[in-house]
Amino acid sequence: MTVPLLDLKAQHDGLRAELDVAIRRVVDSAHFILGPEVDAFERELASYSGCTHALGLSSGTDAILVALMALGVGPGDEVITSPNTFIATASCVARLGARCVFVDIDPSTCNLDPSLLERAITSKTRVVMPVHLFGQVADMDGVMAVARKHGLPVVEDAAQAIGAERNGARAGSMGTVGCLSFFPSKNLGAFGDAGAVVTRDPALWAKMKSLRVQGQEPKYFSKIVGGNFRLDALQAAVLRVKLPHLDAWTAARQRNAARYRQLFAARGIDPHLVRPTALQPITLPQEVPGGRHIYNQFSVRSSNRDALKKALSAQGIGNEVYYPLPMHLQECFAGWGGRVGDFPEAEAAANESLAIPIYPELSESMQREVVDAVMEFHRK
Ligand SMILES: Cc1ncc(COP(=O)(O)O)c(C=O)c1O
Repeated sequence: MTVPLLDLKAQHDGLRAELDVAIRRVVDSAHFILGPEVDAFERELASYSGCTHALGLSSGTDAILVALMALGVGPGDEVITSPNTFIATASCVARLGARCVFVDIDPSTCNLDPSLLERAITSKTRVVMPVHLFGQVADMDGVMAVARKHGLPVVEDAAQAIGAERNGARAGSMGTVGCLSFFPSKNLGAFGDAGAVVTRDPALWAKMKSLRVQGQEPKYFSKIVGGNFRLDALQAAVLRVKLPHLDAWTAARQRNAARYRQLFAARGIDPHLVRPTALQPITLPQEVPGGRHIYNQFSVRSSNRDALKKALSAQGIGNEVYYPLPMHLQECFAGWGGRVGDFPEAEAAANESLAIPIYPELSESMQREVVDAVMEFHRK
C-alpha cells in the first residue's frame, strides 16, 4: 500500500458541490480581487483566530513582509527569530534590509526557547518573531514576558498554526500581529497562494490594509510605499467553504497523532523521549500541556534520518524533511556570519527530523503501514 504525505483530492471530493457553488458565485459576480468575498472571509477568520481584525493577503510570505513593514522594520534593525523555520520567516527580514538574530530552539517543541531570548536583545532589536512550527504554539507566555519588558512588538509566524492554542489563546492573537498561510498543504489550504494577518490593533490593521494596495489612500495617492499584496476573491471563496470544516479536520489530525503514539508505544517506543538515542533511535513529537496542537506536520526524529527517508520513499510512504538546513547556515544569509555549531539544537533537529503522513483522511491501516515501515527500518 502506498501512503501519500497529503491527499488533497480526498478532502476536495467531499466538498465538490459547495466549492462549485462558491466558485460560480465569484465568476458570476466578476469581482475577482478583494471585494465582498474577501471582506466576509476576513470577518470569519478574525473571529476564528480570536482577533478583532484580519486582512486577506497574497501569501503567508507577504503576510510576514506586510507585518514587518507596518512595524517599521528597516535597514540596521534586528529581528529575533528561530533558525528552525521555512526560509520566508527570515527572508522577509532580509528583504527589508534588516537582519535576523537567531535564538536556539527548545528540542521538545522545536520552537524558539524563550529562556535564551533576553540575551539576544540589543539596542537594534525591533521585533521578536516566534514561529509556531508544525502547528504547535511556541511558549508565548515566555516570549511575551520578555517582549513586554523591553517594549518590543511580537509578530507570530503562525503560517503552520491556524487554530492552534496555548492556554486557551489562539495562534496569532497573543502577539501584536499573527501571520497565516493558506498554501494548499496547510490545514486550511487555498487553491493557490494565499495568506492573511490577524490582529487586535486597529491602527496597525489600517496601516497593513494600506500597504496591501501600494500604500494608496485614496486610490492613486500613496503616502507610504506598499506593494500588491491582495487576496483574490476566488481564494477567499474557497477558504470560506473550507473554514467551517477546519475543526473537524483538526480533530482527525489529532486522532491520527494519538494513534501514532499508541502504535509506536505498542512497539516499545517511549513517546516522551525527545531526542533519539542508541537504545531508542526514533522519537515522536511532544505535546505541550495546555496546548492545542493542530498537527500541520507530525515530524519524528531519527538517528539515521537520511536512510530512513530513503527506505520510506522506496516503499511508497510519503515523507519530508522540515527543514534540512537551519536559517543561520543558508547561503543567502552568509553575510550574517552564521557558523556550524552556533545553534546546536536547531542543527540537531535539521539532521534528525522527518515528517510522516498525518492528514485527516489517513486511515488506521495506512498508519499501521507507516509504523511497520519505520520500525522495520530501525530493527535492521
Ligand atoms: C513557518 C512558515 N512561514 C512562512 C511561510 C510562508 O507562507 P507562504 O508559502 O504562504 O508564502 C510558510 C509556508 O510555507 C511557513 O511554513
